Amino acid sequence: MEVRQLAGALGAEVLGLDLTEEIADVAFAGIRDALHENGVICIRGQSAMTPEDQLGFAARWGEISVHPYVPSIEGYPGIMKIYDPNPITQTWHSDSTHMRQPHAYTLLLARVLPEVGGDTMFASATKAFESLSWGFQEMLRTLSAVHEGTDLAADAGLDHGAVVAVHPVVRTHPDTGAEALFVNDNYVTRIDGWTAEESRPLLEYLYGVVGRYENTYRHRWRSGDLVIWDNRSTQHAVVGDVAGEERVLHRVMIAG
Ligand code: SIN
Repeated sequence: MEVRQLAGALGAEVLGLDLTEEIADVAFAGIRDALHENGVICIRGQSAMTPEDQLGFAARWGEISVHPYVPSIEGYPGIMKIYDPNPITQTWHSDSTHMRQPHAYTLLLARVLPEVGGDTMFASATKAFESLSWGFQEMLRTLSAVHEGTDLAADAGLDHGAVVAVHPVVRTHPDTGAEALFVNDNYVTRIDGWTAEESRPLLEYLYGVVGRYENTYRHRWRSGDLVIWDNRSTQHAVVGDVAGEERVLHRVMIAG
């Protein structure tokens, strides 16, 4: 197995693995370390993976989470079909932060890719936090934010109370101990104890810091890519520039 860094802030590719075969514990530990170190990794060359292989490999990371309101693909609970970039996936976010225990990891396997376009952007929320002054960091550590599910949850008939959670604005990664900004434009509606109007300028500022070029990596998909990201330390957004071509990826999420 070879790990090659792809950008300064985050992102690495992993070569030399065949995930249709069982991976030894020691190799798996290496993959996990590479992910924690780089925030997002791309394991190349996995076109032969079946949905069973994807679920089997995903289960090594923790408990597979079946989305509460987005259906799984037929016969494979836990695998979601991602297609058609939309306002939710095109906005910087980490996954399902409206949950009390948001997802830890997400695994996304390329199935059908457009000729060009549909890249996925990743940002290091750790680097974003580290770039702030110590005084501002101290102030942010005192705040929490309210995260609420999108309209999709209400459309699916879920009670609002089931899709709202309050999380610290700065979270500490359970494995690395690194602090990261934990607010995103998809789910955060306000700073806890503040109005939405009072919260907006601070939140917009923080989203801008997360998305600064130097904190990002742009993933140009190749056939067979299996991309895994750490939702505790990164955010992502898909670039909505696919014109009429098919783009299908299979996503599995691991409980936090
Ligand atoms: C997502 O937000 O999980 C989807 C990312 C993508 O379509 O590349």
